Amino acid sequence: MSTFPDQNMSVHPSAVNGEKQIPVDEEEQQVYNNLDEKLDSLLATLPKAKGWRSPNIFLHKGFWLSPTVFKGLLAIHEYFHPQPIDIFLAAFMKCGTTWLRALMFATANRHRYNFSDHPLHRTGPHGAFPSLDTQILVDFPVTKFDHLPSPRLFATHFAHDLLPNSMTAPRSTCKFVYVCREPKDALISKWHFMNKVRSKELAPLLFNEAYELFCDGVSEYGPFWEHVLGYWKASQESPDKILFLKYEDMKREPSAELKKLAAFMGMSFTAAEEEGGVVEEIVKLCSFENLSNLEVNKGGVQKFNTQLKVENRDFFRKGKVGDWKNYLTEEMRERIDSITETKLKDSGLSLGVTKITLS
Ligand code: A3P
Repeated sequence: MSTFPDQNMSVHPSAVNGEKQIPVDEEEQQVYNNLDEKLDSLLATLPKAKGWRSPNIFLHKGFWLSPTVFKGLLAIHEYFHPQPIDIFLAAFMKCGTTWLRALMFATANRHRYNFSDHPLHRTGPHGAFPSLDTQILVDFPVTKFDHLPSPRLFATHFAHDLLPNSMTAPRSTCKFVYVCREPKDALISKWHFMNKVRSKELAPLLFNEAYELFCDGVSEYGPFWEHVLGYWKASQESPDKILFLKYEDMKREPSAELKKLAAFMGMSFTAAEEEGGVVEEIVKLCSFENLSNLEVNKGGVQKFNTQLKVENRDFFRKGKVGDWKNYLTEEMRERIDSITETKLKDSGLSLGVTKITLS
């Protein structure tokens, strides 16, 4: 039986042995201890709005953040040390992180694991590698991530402009895989998901309210359009550094998109692998149908931090393109499409604007 993936935090020596083996740098410990104070003084000065999961979110440098991930962002700036060959999976929420995480993990580790007995069969895709935004705050100093195998893989929902230069500047050799999705499907998916993980003390977020907030750009990690544009523009400037993928293209041509992904990660499939069906094996392993039917994804739980635990099944809903048609009126569709057209104008990016042909 294949062992548990190295990327998962639970194989860290401290998790296995129950004791920390990484020496704590006193200066970093102090910085870590001061994060709450720093966060509180920042939050007191920032515009706030209704959160989709927590009561409030705060506008920081143009993006809305919940206090928990805001603290994660401060920690990333203070003491995350990217390595030159780190690869970050970035996305706005509900645009395909679960899928990409599985694909990236399976691709990076394809020489180590057998597809018939793969770690993804036993751990939810979110266990395959850490979410930087939340994991950075868990169990310091394990969060230095020094133990992860190379290339280290991380996921983040933070907007490009919020991340430190050490990660995003073109001179930094870290890579980003960004996956985006058409905004109407992202809205529907996010609304469903956030109501599942929403604090039980709060009343459910009604769809019409979520729709208005989304159109106004007000939701965790949003505005959606600015998030997408930030990575799109950076990918245009540095195509070797940022691979920009679309959920819809991946649904249409998963094998072709996976080959693109592997090449970008510096792990192209060889001719022998292609002939041997490795690409199709990975596509099948990571498909919605396969992952969502695994026992671990029907019953397991992903713990992001002490407050946020998500049942694995909540990461799998329909996995389809165009589910928005079941929720949005024509007027609602028109409004989102028109925002998308306006925001993306002259960017060279097109994203899910429905063309209506008048007869
Ligand atoms: P829906 O809510 O539209 O079904 P994220 O992974 O970024 O949280 O995004 C979640 C969305 O991706 C959900 O969309 C979910 O069903 C879908 N999804 C999860 N795993 C998938 C997979 N392996 N293939 C395709 N879509 C997947």
